[in-house]
Amino acid sequence: MPTHLSAAKSFTAEPTKHPWAEVLYRARDPRWLADCALRLIAQAWDSVSPSEFSRLYRRICTRTMCSNARLRGLYRATQYVVANQIPGDFVECGCALGGSAALIALTLRQLQASRPLWLFDTFEGLPAPTSQDPDFEVATLFTGTCLATLDSVRQLFEELHVAGGVQFVKGLFQQTLPTTAVSEIALLHIDGDWYESVKTCLENLYDRVAPGGVIQFDDYGYWQGARKAVDEFLAARNIHAPLTRLDYSGRTFVKPNGKAAT
Ligand SMILES: C[S@@+](CC[C@H](N)C(=O)[O-])C[C@H]1O[C@@H](n2cnc3c(N)ncnc32)[C@H](O)[C@@H]1O
Repeated sequence: MPTHLSAAKSFTAEPTKHPWAEVLYRARDPRWLADCALRLIAQAWDSVSPSEFSRLYRRICTRTMCSNARLRGLYRATQYVVANQIPGDFVECGCALGGSAALIALTLRQLQASRPLWLFDTFEGLPAPTSQDPDFEVATLFTGTCLATLDSVRQLFEELHVAGGVQFVKGLFQQTLPTTAVSEIALLHIDGDWYESVKTCLENLYDRVAPGGVIQFDDYGYWQGARKAVDEFLAARNIHAPLTRLDYSGRTFVKPNGKAAT
């Protein structure tokens, strides 16, 4: 859930209160401050640019907490898997108000590509972090935030005329992912913030991602538990493919082909 919640506020059932304690915690890292400055520049550019990405960005920007760089990562990943005919569905774990998922849906429509899009969320706000999250004291301030109802997210997709093929799955990842009907995944966006959430996504969905498919991690640089879950999983699987940096927080990863790359 990296920075920041202002654009999304008007759509939350209860306006998200940004904990100033977190700002003080982050501000000790000059890379975070630099990222905030870059983000402001990118937002200004995308608010006026005539580029295809910027046009789509302007349609969803009030409904997302993802940075422009990470949204651009999803835009490019969608283009990449469609152009390279990577088989499978599109999956987002952690959609909150629906903005990043809507960007994927709009991009698919722009490409005249039709793929199922699965959205997993509690639709009741963030669950609590656990003792596995090294920055628990800050993370716990966000329990219950990012709240958007399933109906409000469905309405967004209907308003954008991209609701066809979208499956909403309500509940904790720990309960919904083990039995999901998703069989093959071309693009997996993991935006669940906490250690247990990210770990559950990887344990249940990594093997369903097609070789050459893309996994984007929203919180790798931001929440220490998210990073820990990714690093542990890749190490346990002996996977050495590089994570590509999108910004301070986001990383993207192309699943290696079979045995050769693992
Ligand atoms: C930062 S928000 C997602 C932001 C969104 N992608 C956007 O465009 O703004 C994180 C979301 O993950 C969901 N989430 C986190 N852990 C979860 C879990 N274990 N099960 C279900 N949903 C979870 C939260 O409910 C929240 O809506």
